[in-house]
Amino acid sequence: MIREEDPADHDAIRNLNRQAFDGDAEATLVDRLRASGAVIVSLVAVENGDIVGHILFSDLLIEANQAVIPAVSLAPMAVAPKSQRRGTGSALMQRGLELCRERGKSIVVVLGHPEYYPRFGFSAELAKPLESPYSGLGAAWMALELVPGALDGIRGTVRYPAAFAVLS
Ligand SMILES: CC(C)(COP(=O)(O)OP(=O)(O)OC[C@H]1O[C@@H](n2cnc3c(N)ncnc32)[C@H](O)[C@@H]1OP(=O)(O)O)[C@@H](O)C(=O)NCCC(=O)NCCS
Repeated sequence: MIREEDPADHDAIRNLNRQAFDGDAEATLVDRLRASGAVIVSLVAVENGDIVGHILFSDLLIEANQAVIPAVSLAPMAVAPKSQRRGTGSALMQRGLELCRERGKSIVVVLGHPEYYPRFGFSAELAKPLESPYSGLGAAWMALELVPGALDGIRGTVRYPAAFAVLS
């Protein structure tokens, strides 16, 4: 079952991220994004009463062509090691993108596995005109249009909120 997170899920989400990433950074990122009010969508996957997956989408801005364009950061995304490769990540992604679209968002960026995210429509090519702290990382820096053409003609700099400093 995929559903939006509840306050009662916070500890389980923290533990899941620690387990999946083998460290504290992503768990802290989730806490900081929540505290800053930047969360657009935070979903959990529940199996037999346990939280086995989590995905989070948050607000960020692209400074482009003398305009500031609202966009979405996908980070982090985690499935418990024992539950991986059974479609949980894909289900979280599909529902998450759907909700972002319903909430009026049009652009999503991600730094992630170049073999995984393209199956959901993310593209390194689309992200090329977007500068970011991650844009030097080649195929791992990707973007997706929730609204076709949303990135047409946009060249600019992605400004990550302060919460992301925990990843550097
Ligand atoms: C990445 C992750 C969220 C995928 O979740 P999942 O539930 O296993 O994903 P799904 O079952 O929907 O999809 C499985 C597919 O993803 C692929 N996949 C999983 N992890 C991958 C990785 N690191 N790189 C490339 N492909 C990967 C699998 O090979 C599988 O491919 P197949 O469908 O061709 O067999 C999960 O592996 C995870 O939590 N990893 C640790 C944390 C992490 O790396 N998060 C993402 C940060 S960018």
